[in-house]
Amino acid sequence: MAFSELAKKRRSCRAFKDIQVTEEQLQTILEAAQWAPSPLNEQPFQFIAITDETVKAQIQKISIEAKQTVIDSRGPGWVKKYPMDFIVECPLILVVVSDPNKGGLGSYFEQPHGALQASSACIQNMMLQAADLELHSLWFTFFNPLTLKSILNIPDRLDIAGAIMFGTPAMESKVPKRRTPVIHQNRYTS
Ligand SMILES: Cc1cc2nc3c(=O)[nH]c(=O)nc-3n(C[C@H](O)[C@H](O)[C@H](O)COP(=O)(O)O)c2cc1C
Repeated sequence: MAFSELAKKRRSCRAFKDIQVTEEQLQTILEAAQWAPSPLNEQPFQFIAITDETVKAQIQKISIEAKQTVIDSRGPGWVKKYPMDFIVECPLILVVVSDPNKGGLGSYFEQPHGALQASSACIQNMMLQAADLELHSLWFTFFNPLTLKSILNIPDRLDIAGAIMFGTPAMESKVPKRRTPVIHQNRYTS
């Protein structure tokens, strides 16, 4: 598939069929992750592969709690309708853990986010690879990271870049509109 087609094919999925992600598909996705760029090639990312129903249910629980926090804080009204069922239905969740001490030289000159930037590139690689395998995915962050760290035994010094869901879509996902790119010529103009 042409890359331009693949980039548009990747779609955030919030409803999954009960079909497992195979070990071969997982390895292909992780290989794509490995080839992401990172500052000083420090590859600051690690992965927790979650397939266990109990762990998925724990993630669902803390996500429902996060949703309630948004509702209680009078956040956007649509959040009330946000479904959380797909968390337990999703066959594979890869939690991407990022080491902020592996962010290259940026911390010397006001660029402290190198590790998370690399982890984000790694996540995009995985999602595009999944789309190429006819799997859909979701970059999911609707949880308190401190609570997720305690559930998954992730040390405090590490960051969570996202919980990435992979599986076969149960329905067609909406295609959210894109804005026309804003391009400035040579210098930023307001
Ligand atoms: C850093 C990041 C965090 C996100 N967190 C969530 C999330 O918690 N729940 C969710 O449903 N979608 C989440 N998304 C997905 C976006 O909503 C989605 O990418 C956007 O609406 C565009 O849709 P598309 O991915 O189908 O093109 C997240 C995306 C990014 C990049």
